[in-house]
Amino acid sequence: MHKIFEEAFERLLSGQEILDLAKPIIREIRYNSNRYHPTWHALGFIHCKVANFDGGQLRLHIWPAGKSHHLEQDLKVHEHVFDVNSCLVRGKLLNINYEFNEALNADRAHFQRYRVEYLEDGSMLHPSGRFFNIKEKVETELSTGDFYRVGRGIFHESKRELTEQVVTLVATSAPEERSPLMMGAAFNVQSKFRPRVLCQRNTFNEEIDSVLNYFDGYSG
Ligand SMILES: [Fe+2]
Repeated sequence: MHKIFEEAFERLLSGQEILDLAKPIIREIRYNSNRYHPTWHALGFIHCKVANFDGGQLRLHIWPAGKSHHLEQDLKVHEHVFDVNSCLVRGKLLNINYEFNEALNADRAHFQRYRVEYLEDGSMLHPSGRFFNIKEKVETELSTGDFYRVGRGIFHESKRELTEQVVTLVATSAPEERSPLMMGAAFNVQSKFRPRVLCQRNTFNEEIDSVLNYFDGYSG
């Protein structure tokens, strides 16, 4: 285990930003890039597990400039079974936290709640037959260097400008033993499979190089 990963994990869990550690961490990942197995997350970013700890994981998330993958889902409101402690190390994000009211039926609702079941080769979304409308939303604009925490069980989504690369380092806390939930289309009655989408090594390396160039003050 690289010492700097441990320091980043501990600092994020205690609520500190780690902008000073971002460059050495991402350099280390680039140097040993073959050890990592990045995937395209259904929410639109490249997801890379950096290190496992007893109490959670250190992760790198990259939203590439101008790129998305064809399986990215439109509706992105979800919650987590762990606390998400993030530092935005490049770009801007709009984090939106939601509260919902339950609706009587699909006709009166914008959302249905889904349970996410993780499988070896992807995940399955199971409609619950329970319907919801937004009661309240709280928007927070985040920029480079900001720390933000999304507690377990809080429904949220993160929005970004497609033209700009956005990078976060994330420490997750120990997970609860249950399936995570998301809010999706009100009308679906069948479960839907989302295949795991691997991120090509050269795409990942290009994105990492773009972050490192940014840290070094180049335009690329
Ligand atoms: Fe999230």
